[in-house]
Amino acid sequence: MLNSNRIIEICSENVQSYKKIISGINYESKGIFNSEMLLFVSLTKYFSVNLIIESGRANGQSTKIIAECFKNPIYKIISVESNRFSPHVKNSYERLKKYRNLELLFGTSFSLIPELIMEECCILIDGPKTGAIKLAINCMKNPLVKAVFVHDLTKDSNQRITAKKVFNYYFFTDNKDYVTKFKVLDEKCWLDLKRYKKYRNWAPYRRDNKVTKSYFSTLAVFMNSNNAININQYNPKLEDKKKWKHSWSFKYLLNDWPLRIKNIIRYPFYFIFFEKKFGINNKINLILLLKN
Ligand SMILES: C[S@@+](CC[C@H](N)C(=O)[O-])C[C@H]1O[C@@H](n2cnc3c(N)ncnc32)[C@H](O)[C@@H]1O
Repeated sequence: MLNSNRIIEICSENVQSYKKIISGINYESKGIFNSEMLLFVSLTKYFSVNLIIESGRANGQSTKIIAECFKNPIYKIISVESNRFSPHVKNSYERLKKYRNLELLFGTSFSLIPELIMEECCILIDGPKTGAIKLAINCMKNPLVKAVFVHDLTKDSNQRITAKKVFNYYFFTDNKDYVTKFKVLDEKCWLDLKRYKKYRNWAPYRRDNKVTKSYFSTLAVFMNSNNAININQYNPKLEDKKKWKHSWSFKYLLNDWPLRIKNIIRYPFYFIFFEKKFGINNKINLILLLKN
Protein backbone atom coordinates (compact mmCIF):
# COMPACT_ATOMS: atom_id res chain seq x y z
CA MET A 1 0.00 0.00 0.00
CA LEU A 2 1.19 3.55 -0.71
CA ASN A 3 3.05 5.27 2.11
CA SER A 4 3.25 9.04 2.71
CA ASN A 5 6.53 9.50 0.82
CA ARG A 6 5.25 7.65 -2.22
CA ILE A 7 1.99 9.63 -2.19
CA ILE A 8 3.91 12.92 -2.11
CA GLU A 9 6.11 11.64 -4.93
CA ILE A 10 3.05 10.79 -7.07
CA CYS A 11 1.62 14.26 -6.43
CA SER A 12 4.98 15.84 -7.36
CA GLU A 13 4.93 13.97 -10.68
CA ASN A 14 1.52 15.53 -11.47
CA VAL A 15 1.93 19.00 -10.05
CA GLN A 16 3.20 20.81 -13.16
CA SER A 17 0.38 19.69 -15.46
CA TYR A 18 -2.15 20.21 -12.65
CA LYS A 19 -0.91 23.75 -12.05
CA LYS A 20 -1.46 24.61 -15.70
CA ILE A 21 -5.00 23.22 -15.68
CA ILE A 22 -6.13 25.02 -12.51
CA SER A 23 -4.56 28.37 -13.44
CA GLY A 24 -7.80 29.44 -15.15
CA ILE A 25 -10.14 28.37 -12.34
CA ASN A 26 -11.35 30.93 -9.78
CA TYR A 27 -11.99 29.85 -6.23
CA GLU A 28 -15.64 29.77 -5.05
CA SER A 29 -16.83 29.68 -1.43
CA LYS A 30 -17.20 26.28 0.28
CA GLY A 31 -14.73 24.84 -2.21
CA ILE A 32 -11.89 22.40 -1.64
CA PHE A 33 -8.48 24.08 -1.95
CA ASN A 34 -6.13 23.49 -4.91
CA SER A 35 -3.43 21.69 -2.90
CA GLU A 36 -6.06 19.32 -1.50
CA MET A 37 -7.48 18.58 -4.95
CA LEU A 38 -3.98 17.76 -6.19
CA LEU A 39 -4.09 14.67 -3.97
CA PHE A 40 -7.43 13.60 -5.43
CA VAL A 41 -6.42 14.16 -9.04
CA SER A 42 -2.99 12.51 -8.69
CA LEU A 43 -4.18 9.37 -6.89
CA THR A 44 -7.23 8.96 -9.12
CA LYS A 45 -4.84 8.93 -12.08
CA TYR A 46 -2.51 6.57 -10.22
CA PHE A 47 -5.36 4.10 -9.60
CA SER A 48 -6.24 4.23 -13.34
CA VAL A 49 -9.97 4.33 -12.79
CA ASN A 50 -12.39 5.67 -15.39
CA LEU A 51 -15.29 6.39 -13.06
CA ILE A 52 -15.21 9.30 -10.61
CA ILE A 53 -18.04 9.92 -8.16
CA GLU A 54 -18.40 13.09 -6.10
CA SER A 55 -20.71 13.67 -3.15
CA GLY A 56 -21.43 17.32 -2.26
CA ARG A 57 -21.19 19.84 -5.08
CA ALA A 58 -22.35 23.29 -3.78
CA ASN A 59 -20.72 25.83 -6.13
CA GLY A 60 -18.89 23.09 -7.94
CA GLN A 61 -15.31 24.07 -7.11
CA SER A 62 -14.04 20.51 -6.74
CA THR A 63 -16.35 19.39 -9.58
CA LYS A 64 -14.84 21.97 -11.93
CA ILE A 65 -11.28 20.89 -11.09
CA ILE A 66 -12.20 17.23 -11.64
CA ALA A 67 -14.00 18.03 -14.90
CA GLU A 68 -11.00 19.99 -16.22
CA CYS A 69 -8.44 17.34 -15.19
CA PHE A 70 -10.49 14.41 -16.52
CA LYS A 71 -11.93 16.01 -19.67
CA ASN A 72 -11.11 13.02 -21.85
CA PRO A 73 -14.36 11.13 -22.68
CA ILE A 74 -12.86 7.85 -21.45
CA TYR A 75 -13.70 9.19 -17.99
CA LYS A 76 -17.21 9.31 -16.56
CA ILE A 77 -17.78 11.81 -13.75
CA ILE A 78 -20.91 11.77 -11.59
CA SER A 79 -21.57 14.49 -9.02
CA VAL A 80 -24.31 14.08 -6.41
CA GLU A 81 -25.81 17.01 -4.48
CA SER A 82 -28.61 16.68 -1.93
CA ASN A 83 -29.89 20.26 -1.93
CA ARG A 84 -31.62 21.08 -5.21
CA PHE A 85 -33.01 24.33 -3.76
CA SER A 86 -29.70 25.83 -2.64
CA PRO A 87 -28.65 29.20 -4.09
CA HIS A 88 -25.52 27.46 -5.44
CA VAL A 89 -27.42 25.27 -7.90
CA LYS A 90 -27.63 27.89 -10.65
CA ASN A 91 -24.00 28.95 -10.26
CA SER A 92 -22.67 25.41 -10.34
CA TYR A 93 -24.82 24.56 -13.37
CA GLU A 94 -23.44 27.56 -15.28
CA ARG A 95 -19.86 26.60 -14.38
CA LEU A 96 -20.26 22.95 -15.31
CA LYS A 97 -22.76 22.69 -18.15
CA LYS A 98 -20.11 22.50 -20.87
CA TYR A 99 -18.60 19.18 -19.71
CA ARG A 100 -20.08 16.33 -21.73
CA ASN A 101 -18.73 13.50 -19.54
CA LEU A 102 -20.08 15.01 -16.30
CA GLU A 103 -23.48 14.06 -14.90
CA LEU A 104 -25.05 16.32 -12.25
CA LEU A 105 -27.45 14.40 -10.02
CA PHE A 106 -29.67 15.50 -7.13
CA GLY A 107 -30.42 13.23 -4.17
CA THR A 108 -28.72 11.92 -1.10
CA SER A 109 -25.44 10.10 -1.58
CA PHE A 110 -26.33 7.59 1.13
CA SER A 111 -28.81 5.98 -1.24
CA LEU A 112 -27.50 7.07 -4.66
CA ILE A 113 -23.76 6.31 -4.48
CA PRO A 114 -23.91 2.56 -3.73
CA GLU A 115 -26.02 2.20 -6.91
CA LEU A 116 -23.55 4.18 -9.00
CA ILE A 117 -20.53 1.97 -8.32
CA MET A 118 -20.61 -0.10 -11.52
CA GLU A 119 -16.89 -0.26 -12.28
CA GLU A 120 -13.56 0.57 -10.61
CA CYS A 121 -13.77 4.09 -9.24
CA CYS A 122 -12.57 6.75 -6.83
CA ILE A 123 -15.04 8.64 -4.66
CA LEU A 124 -14.79 12.16 -3.21
CA ILE A 125 -17.02 12.99 -0.22
CA ASP A 126 -17.39 16.67 0.72
CA GLY A 127 -20.94 16.47 2.08
CA PRO A 128 -22.57 14.97 4.02
CA LYS A 129 -20.32 16.13 6.84
CA THR A 130 -22.12 14.12 9.52
CA GLY A 131 -22.02 10.49 8.47
CA ALA A 132 -19.18 10.93 5.97
CA ILE A 133 -17.20 8.10 7.56
CA LYS A 134 -20.25 5.85 7.51
CA LEU A 135 -20.72 6.62 3.81
CA ALA A 136 -17.01 5.98 3.15
CA ILE A 137 -17.21 2.59 4.90
CA ASN A 138 -20.28 1.60 2.86
CA CYS A 139 -18.51 2.55 -0.36
CA MET A 140 -15.32 0.70 0.55
CA LYS A 141 -17.19 -2.52 1.23
CA ASN A 142 -17.37 -2.68 -2.55
CA PRO A 143 -13.97 -3.83 -3.92
CA LEU A 144 -14.55 -1.80 -7.10
CA VAL A 145 -13.85 1.30 -5.01
CA LYS A 146 -10.10 1.92 -5.12
CA ALA A 147 -10.07 4.87 -2.73
CA VAL A 148 -12.43 7.20 -0.91
CA PHE A 149 -11.45 10.80 -0.21
CA VAL A 150 -13.17 12.70 2.61
CA HIS A 151 -12.92 16.44 3.11
CA ASP A 152 -12.85 18.38 6.40
CA LEU A 153 -10.95 15.90 8.52
CA THR A 154 -8.89 18.34 10.59
CA LYS A 155 -6.59 17.05 13.29
CA ASP A 156 -8.93 17.91 16.16
CA SER A 157 -12.13 16.48 14.63
CA ASN A 158 -13.93 13.41 15.92
CA GLN A 159 -14.33 12.21 12.34
CA ARG A 160 -10.53 12.06 12.09
CA ILE A 161 -10.22 10.08 15.33
CA THR A 162 -12.92 7.69 14.11
CA ALA A 163 -11.38 7.41 10.64
CA LYS A 164 -7.91 6.57 11.98
CA LYS A 165 -9.39 3.71 13.98
CA VAL A 166 -11.59 2.38 11.19
CA PHE A 167 -9.29 2.60 8.16
CA ASN A 168 -5.87 1.00 7.86
CA TYR A 169 -4.42 2.89 4.89
CA TYR A 170 -4.76 6.65 4.95
CA PHE A 171 -3.07 9.96 4.24
CA PHE A 172 -4.05 13.53 5.16
CA THR A 173 -3.20 16.70 3.25
CA ASP A 174 -2.18 18.46 6.48
CA ASN A 175 0.95 16.25 6.44
CA LYS A 176 3.81 18.70 7.07
CA ASP A 177 5.90 17.72 4.03
CA TYR A 178 2.84 17.81 1.80
CA VAL A 179 1.91 21.31 3.01
CA THR A 180 5.49 22.60 2.56
CA LYS A 181 5.65 21.28 -0.98
CA PHE A 182 2.21 22.16 -2.31
CA LYS A 183 0.86 25.12 -0.31
CA VAL A 184 2.05 27.40 -3.10
CA LEU A 185 -0.93 26.12 -5.16
CA ASP A 186 -3.30 27.80 -2.70
CA GLU A 187 -2.04 31.38 -2.97
CA LYS A 188 -4.96 32.34 -5.20
CA CYS A 189 -7.48 30.43 -3.04
CA TRP A 190 -6.46 32.40 0.05
CA LEU A 191 -6.83 35.66 -1.86
CA ASP A 192 -10.20 34.68 -3.33
CA LEU A 193 -11.39 33.51 0.10
CA LYS A 194 -10.96 37.08 1.40
CA ARG A 195 -13.89 38.12 -0.84
CA TYR A 196 -16.20 36.34 1.61
CA LYS A 197 -16.82 38.19 4.88
CA LYS A 198 -17.10 34.96 6.87
CA TYR A 199 -13.61 33.80 5.83
CA ARG A 200 -11.78 37.15 5.85
CA ASN A 201 -9.71 36.22 8.91
CA TRP A 202 -8.86 32.70 7.88
CA ALA A 203 -5.24 31.87 7.09
CA PRO A 204 -2.95 28.83 7.13
CA TYR A 205 -3.23 27.25 10.60
CA ARG A 206 -5.74 29.90 11.67
CA ARG A 207 -9.53 30.26 11.66
CA ASP A 208 -10.48 33.75 12.81
CA ASN A 209 -8.55 34.20 16.07
CA LYS A 210 -8.14 30.49 16.72
CA VAL A 211 -4.87 28.73 15.94
CA THR A 212 -5.53 25.32 14.35
CA LYS A 213 -3.39 22.18 14.26
CA SER A 214 -4.19 21.61 10.59
CA TYR A 215 -3.07 23.83 7.70
CA PHE A 216 -6.63 24.07 6.32
CA SER A 217 -9.79 21.94 6.09
CA THR A 218 -7.80 18.82 5.10
CA LEU A 219 -8.60 16.15 2.56
CA ALA A 220 -8.11 12.53 3.63
CA VAL A 221 -7.65 9.54 1.39
CA PHE A 222 -8.60 6.04 2.53
CA MET A 223 -7.18 3.38 0.24
CA ASN A 224 -9.06 0.15 -0.27
CA SER A 225 -7.89 -3.46 -0.11
CA ASN A 226 -9.28 -6.65 1.38
CA ASN A 227 -8.13 -5.64 4.90
CA ALA A 228 -8.71 -1.88 4.70
CA ILE A 229 -11.57 -1.53 7.21
CA ASN A 230 -11.88 -2.40 10.92
CA ILE A 231 -15.64 -2.27 11.01
CA ASN A 232 -15.89 -3.05 14.76
CA GLN A 233 -14.04 0.23 15.47
CA TYR A 234 -16.82 2.36 13.93
CA ASN A 235 -18.80 4.29 16.52
CA PRO A 236 -21.44 6.58 14.97
CA LYS A 237 -21.86 8.42 18.28
CA LEU A 238 -18.20 9.42 18.32
CA GLU A 239 -18.38 10.62 14.71
CA ASP A 240 -21.18 13.08 15.56
CA LYS A 241 -20.38 14.01 19.17
CA LYS A 242 -18.35 17.16 18.70
CA LYS A 243 -20.73 18.72 16.17
CA TRP A 244 -23.57 18.56 18.65
CA LYS A 245 -21.46 19.87 21.52
CA HIS A 246 -20.30 22.76 19.33
CA SER A 247 -23.85 23.66 18.43
CA TRP A 248 -24.29 24.81 22.02
CA SER A 249 -21.49 27.36 21.89
CA PHE A 250 -22.60 31.01 22.04
CA LYS A 251 -22.00 31.50 18.32
CA TYR A 252 -24.43 28.70 17.42
CA LEU A 253 -27.09 29.82 19.89
CA LEU A 254 -27.65 32.71 17.51
CA ASN A 255 -28.04 30.34 14.54
CA ASP A 256 -31.36 30.88 12.71
CA TRP A 257 -32.02 33.84 14.97
CA PRO A 258 -34.54 34.21 16.57
CA LEU A 259 -36.23 30.87 15.83
CA ARG A 260 -33.76 28.52 17.51
CA ILE A 261 -33.44 30.56 20.71
CA LYS A 262 -37.28 30.87 20.95
CA ASN A 263 -37.52 27.08 20.69
CA ILE A 264 -34.84 26.56 23.32
CA ILE A 265 -36.60 28.90 25.79
CA ARG A 266 -40.07 27.46 25.15
CA TYR A 267 -39.26 23.71 25.07
CA PRO A 268 -35.74 23.31 26.49
CA PHE A 269 -35.79 19.57 27.17
CA TYR A 270 -37.73 18.49 24.08
CA PHE A 271 -35.64 20.76 21.88
CA ILE A 272 -32.33 19.44 23.23
CA PHE A 273 -33.60 15.89 22.73
CA PHE A 274 -34.76 16.42 19.13
CA GLU A 275 -31.74 18.44 18.07
CA LYS A 276 -29.40 15.82 19.48
CA LYS A 277 -31.33 13.15 17.61
CA PHE A 278 -31.71 14.87 14.23
CA GLY A 279 -28.79 17.33 14.18
CA ILE A 280 -28.60 21.13 14.10
CA ASN A 281 -28.81 21.28 10.31
CA ASN A 282 -32.38 19.99 10.30
CA LYS A 283 -33.66 23.29 11.74
CA ILE A 284 -36.21 21.84 14.13
CA ASN A 285 -39.15 24.13 14.91
CA LEU A 286 -41.17 22.66 17.78
CA ILE A 287 -43.22 25.84 18.16
CA LEU A 288 -44.69 25.34 14.70
CA LEU A 289 -44.90 21.57 15.02
CA LEU A 290 -46.74 21.57 18.35
CA LYS A 291 -49.11 24.38 17.30
CA ASN A 292 -50.54 22.29 14.43
C1 LIG B 1 -18.88 21.98 1.35
S1 LIG B 1 -20.10 21.79 0.17
C2 LIG B 1 -19.31 21.03 -1.18
C3 LIG B 1 -18.31 21.88 -1.85
C4 LIG B 1 -17.73 21.33 -3.13
N1 LIG B 1 -17.19 20.02 -2.96
C5 LIG B 1 -16.67 22.26 -3.65
O1 LIG B 1 -15.46 21.96 -3.56
O2 LIG B 1 -17.06 23.35 -4.12
C6 LIG B 1 -21.06 20.46 0.81
C7 LIG B 1 -22.28 20.10 -0.03
O3 LIG B 1 -22.69 18.79 0.30
C8 LIG B 1 -24.09 18.71 0.17
N2 LIG B 1 -24.57 17.53 0.91
C9 LIG B 1 -24.82 17.41 2.24
N3 LIG B 1 -25.28 16.18 2.53
C10 LIG B 1 -25.30 15.50 1.36
C11 LIG B 1 -25.71 14.17 1.01
N4 LIG B 1 -26.15 13.30 1.92
N5 LIG B 1 -25.62 13.80 -0.30
C12 LIG B 1 -25.15 14.67 -1.24
N6 LIG B 1 -24.77 15.94 -0.95
C13 LIG B 1 -24.85 16.34 0.32
C14 LIG B 1 -24.56 20.05 0.73
O4 LIG B 1 -25.86 20.37 0.30
C15 LIG B 1 -23.48 21.00 0.20
O5 LIG B 1 -23.89 21.60 -0.99
